[in-house]
Amino acid sequence: MNNHPILKSGFTLAIIAAVCTGLVAFTWQLTNAHIAANQQAWLERSLQPALSGLVFDNNVTESMITLQPPHGLPGSEAATIYRVYAGDRPVAALFLVTARDGYTGPIRVLVGIDVNGSVTGVRVVEHRETPGLGDRIEANRSDWVLQFDGHSLHDPEPGGWAIKRDGGQFDQLTGASVTPRAVIKAIRETLQYFEANADTIFATRADADVQERD
Ligand SMILES: Cc1cc2nc3c(=O)[nH]c(=O)nc-3n(C[C@H](O)[C@H](O)[C@H](O)COP(=O)(O)O)c2cc1C
Repeated sequence: MNNHPILKSGFTLAIIAAVCTGLVAFTWQLTNAHIAANQQAWLERSLQPALSGLVFDNNVTESMITLQPPHGLPGSEAATIYRVYAGDRPVAALFLVTARDGYTGPIRVLVGIDVNGSVTGVRVVEHRETPGLGDRIEANRSDWVLQFDGHSLHDPEPGGWAIKRDGGQFDQLTGASVTPRAVIKAIRETLQYFEANADTIFATRADADVQERD
């Protein structure tokens, strides 16, 4: 009888804890769905610039392949390939790769390449380069990243895939050569990978599943 008040308090606390846990779980579920929808919308928006001018009919975000390292693409983390089709015909592949040697750290770059090996668009989707210097690789800060459209591994030849001051064909960024070198190298390596692996990339059309390959 003596511990009856303790039992009562314990019971009350247990109910409060259960209600709080339920509220947290409910909020997490709501937020999680919202975050997933936002991520999907962000991804679709990010892929758009590399899709312009292409005629295709598949859901690009669902035709994704994730490649675990070592995969031969730039970067030591997982790389992602989005495949673009018109019917069963391959149209292009979009690569999300990492340029390791940015000035301030890795740079995540989206490189779109059509079936003929020409660049359909390049966008920097994540970086920590210095504002006013390296950050001009962002399409909303300068046109620098647009200069690759239409080029391929053989136009210019591999030696031309460099900034002009290194004997290449592409513009540098004044006072910030490290960042452009890293991005151009990542694009060139992605083109090389595409040339060597295009058949494998498009071998299976699987809109509805996400494939994991080692
Ligand atoms: C604080 C600071 C931040 C810098 N940030 C960058 C950068 O984000 N990207 C870059 O390429 N160079 C950056 N630089 C400049 C590099 O150190 C280097 O001087 C430059 O990339 C060489 O380019 P240039 O040969 O065209 O002058 C930065 C320098 C300083 C002092």
